Amino acid sequence: MSAQIIDGKQIALEVRAGVAEKVAALKAKGITPCLAVILVGENPASVSYVTGKRKALAEAGMTDRSEILPENTTEEELLALIDKLNKDSSVHGILVQLPLPKHIDEDKVIMAISPEKDVDGFHPVNVGKMVIGKKAFLPCTPHGIIVLLKRMGIETSGKHAVVIGRSNIVGKPVTLLLARREINCTVTMCHTGTKNMAEIVKQADIIVAASGHPHTVTADMVKEGAVVIDVGVNRIPDATKKSGFRLIGDTDFEAIKEKASFITPVPGGVGPMTIAMLMYNTLEAAENAADVK
Ligand code: GUN
Repeated sequence: MSAQIIDGKQIALEVRAGVAEKVAALKAKGITPCLAVILVGENPASVSYVTGKRKALAEAGMTDRSEILPENTTEEELLALIDKLNKDSSVHGILVQLPLPKHIDEDKVIMAISPEKDVDGFHPVNVGKMVIGKKAFLPCTPHGIIVLLKRMGIETSGKHAVVIGRSNIVGKPVTLLLARREINCTVTMCHTGTKNMAEIVKQADIIVAASGHPHTVTADMVKEGAVVIDVGVNRIPDATKKSGFRLIGDTDFEAIKEKASFITPVPGGVGPMTIAMLMYNTLEAAENAADVK
């Protein structure tokens, strides 16, 4: 079998076009959705993500109140900025790009963001609501994965999904979203403490690879016809590229595409969906603030 490649770039464009239409409708009522993306320092991957997010904001017709701060910004300065943005009613969403420099306590920063403006869905109030199935901002990457499965018409009910990774941003939330009644997967979560990972992954109908390491999933671990969602973004040196690197995922794409039924490429799979769902959440934050829908 040769897998159908899931075009995350195209699906993300469709989601973003839908958001842009609703933004235009909201603007006609005098409300322009506004997001503040905060970047501290110059981590190259973070700079690239923030650039992509800001470009998407402009294309959706939203206001960009982003702040690019130097590496030596203190925790107090960052908390003061968040406090200011929390109180500013023209700002609907606040996102602090992670990871933060080591001298800043990430948990403290996430907790400082007003849950109503937490479009990343990282604040414990939103995490808690997500866990118990209440309306909340869903974290963008896991939500994007669910949208990809739905838009591709992939059957999920009763299927065995194996998630590799237990991060707060991807592994944990995607495990819970896949187990929701409307998705209805049986979910196994693997992590660095898992002993027989290859045996477990081989049983999967749906594999979500979010280990953060290249080639975590090899073709011998993939059941014929499985759906493979690759969340990895690993930079590896490549002298043929102007940038000096290229991106690869957490799976052995070339070999697995001969066995899987569906597979996401890297780049162009899950990544663009993260940005699309951020636009979706920012629109929702503005609609909530305006009490319209
Ligand atoms: N770093 C990696 N992914 C994300 C994300 O979705 N949001 C934020 N704020 N930082 C990240």
